Amino acid sequence: MAAVRPMTRTDGAFPERSVRATIDGRAVTVPEGTTILAACRAEGTEVPTLCFLENLAPVNVCRACVVEVEGSRALVPACSRPLEADMVVSTRSERVDHSRRMVLELLASSVDMSLAGPDLERWLEEYGADPARHGPLAPTGADRQARAGRHGSVAGEARATLDQPVTIDNELYVRDYSRCILCYKCVEACGDQAQHTFAIAVAGRGFDAHIATEFDVALPDSACVYCGNCVAVCPTGALMFKSEYDLRQADDWDASRQTVTDTICPYCGVGCTLELHVQDNRIVKVTSPMDHEVTHGHLCVKGRFGFDFVHVPPPGAEDTRR
Ligand code: SF4
Ligand code: SF4
Ligand code: FES
Repeated sequence: MAAVRPMTRTDGAFPERSVRATIDGRAVTVPEGTTILAACRAEGTEVPTLCFLENLAPVNVCRACVVEVEGSRALVPACSRPLEADMVVSTRSERVDHSRRMVLELLASSVDMSLAGPDLERWLEEYGADPARHGPLAPTGADRQARAGRHGSVAGEARATLDQPVTIDNELYVRDYSRCILCYKCVEACGDQAQHTFAIAVAGRGFDAHIATEFDVALPDSACVYCGNCVAVCPTGALMFKSEYDLRQADDWDASRQTVTDTICPYCGVGCTLELHVQDNRIVKVTSPMDHEVTHGHLCVKGRFGFDFVHVPPPGAEDTRR
């Protein structure tokens, strides 16, 4: 059985005892405090997750990961619930599949999840989610109406879609909240899970819930320090490097033409590991490995965005590098 990483524990204590339980009919033994999700992954059992990330504490908001536990009235979130002795867990019961289908279907019917990656597309199919039965997709792009933070049907015919224009108020990253599933990852990364800047939070309730700066001010007027840690954890492309956004707008973003090179950040003595994503000999974005014992995937503004100085301007062009 694969080792369970300490980051997946929820209580922070050193494991002293083992726990024996049953997952999908198989006997498993894991260190006490291991989450159901970690135990499943160690066994090679896939459980869909949207709001969970290895470098953040679980926040339990998406419910894509729910599993059935014998004797429990409600389905339980695998990402945060520790496996307990003699638990009998089912990851694919009819009730589980139905719940996941509804979660995925409602999310995909209200949010543009076209950049959420291949796993999401596979789960939609695997669980039989059919977002289209809630109506045709609301228009995107130039047709989006300026109703930030609001759901609303378009001409009464399309699905109630989180419909708002892309916010571009700085040169480092853009925010497209029509793609936001309110997973809280950005809020956690900006808050006490990494950055401790607390520039963003969830404002409003129900359909009005949205990610906001204090008093909804523009990002340059907020407490944001542009570390980009929120961008790195966003699962849907709602937060995106401006360099990636520009290439996508020009229909020139091509992951198959990109290479990733590890290097050490040149700016200070911490020496964070940087992953340089390069397309056509230009750095298009910078990440850090989530399993890195110093960064845990998080960086500061210099490591994350301070890469333009390596790009030599073409002959005759103005050199704006500082
Ligand atoms: S860039 Fe950093 S400081 Fe700004 S909102 Fe994102 S996580 Fe917070
Ligand atoms: S902007 Fe991204 S990371 Fe933040 S809540 Fe929305 S989907 Fe999650
Ligand atoms: S992944 Fe468990 S609640 Fe979202």
